[in-house]
Amino acid sequence: MSQKIALITGANRGIGFETARQLAKQGIKVLIGARTEAKGLEAESALKNEGLDAEYIDLDVDNAATHAEAAKTIEAKYGKLDILINNAGIFLSDEFDADGKMVPASKVSQETLRKTFDTNFFNTIAVTQALLPLVKRSEAGRIVFLSSGLGSLGLHSDPTSPIYNYKVPAYNISKTALNGYVVHLAHELRGTNIKVNTAHPGSVVTDMNANGEIPVEEGAKTSVALATLPDDGHSGKFIHLGQELPW
Ligand SMILES: NC(=O)c1ccc[n+]([C@@H]2O[C@H](COP(=O)([O-])OP(=O)(O)OC[C@H]3O[C@@H](n4cnc5c(N)ncnc54)[C@H](OP(=O)(O)O)[C@@H]3O)[C@@H](O)[C@H]2O)c1
Repeated sequence: MSQKIALITGANRGIGFETARQLAKQGIKVLIGARTEAKGLEAESALKNEGLDAEYIDLDVDNAATHAEAAKTIEAKYGKLDILINNAGIFLSDEFDADGKMVPASKVSQETLRKTFDTNFFNTIAVTQALLPLVKRSEAGRIVFLSSGLGSLGLHSDPTSPIYNYKVPAYNISKTALNGYVVHLAHELRGTNIKVNTAHPGSVVTDMNANGEIPVEEGAKTSVALATLPDDGHSGKFIHLGQELPW
């Protein structure tokens, strides 16, 4: 069987970088999606220095031309894509006011909503649509979306949930919407050899989450597990470390 090819968006740092490392350690060739060449190349050489098979690829989630170019490059070099991990995401500081308090639903600005939804929702879907024809050429395609427990309406409606009071509307609802897309895409692709799932990585210490509770090594595990599901694995599920989360 030919070597598996995985593309991870936003893989130059954080959970994406660690996901690339863990997949590469399994013998998978990892394409490090990054929007800045210098950062992408730095990540590539960091993994190569560990003896891993990694290659930077220009991919700005907010620039459709890079999606098309990445698809063209992957098609020409590999003819297929086995694993797509939609990892890149943003959490704008505008979700907090000058006193560090969360800006509530009644006050969140259109700009914050639109900017967040552009990257976390609309443009993540555009990346997926651009690359799906290549995933369809894989013998066992796997598509993983990085959501968040903060996108769970079930948890947000439960006063006993630890995230009940963590109401940052733009980020949270962009991940809720993304989960909705995952359910629809998984339904469309049911009966094919492609599995589509959404991950909550945990509260992970990264630039996005300085107050995270677990290290990236742990935070990447859910993405890696969903990217390497066996042929009889699930599709259309919202998972954290093997446990199903409520939508
Ligand atoms: N950390 C957590 O506790 C946590 C919890 C739940 C879910 N998540 C989700 O997990 C994913 C990774 O988070 P993280 O904590 O690793 O975040 P991070 O440390 O802030 O890293 C984000 C990555 O996404 C990239 N990115 C952002 N916008 C992009 C764009 N338009 N095009 C291409 N790349 C872009 C960044 O690239 P640059 O370096 O160029 O900015 C960076 O590589 C996100 O989707 C996040 O929402 C994280």
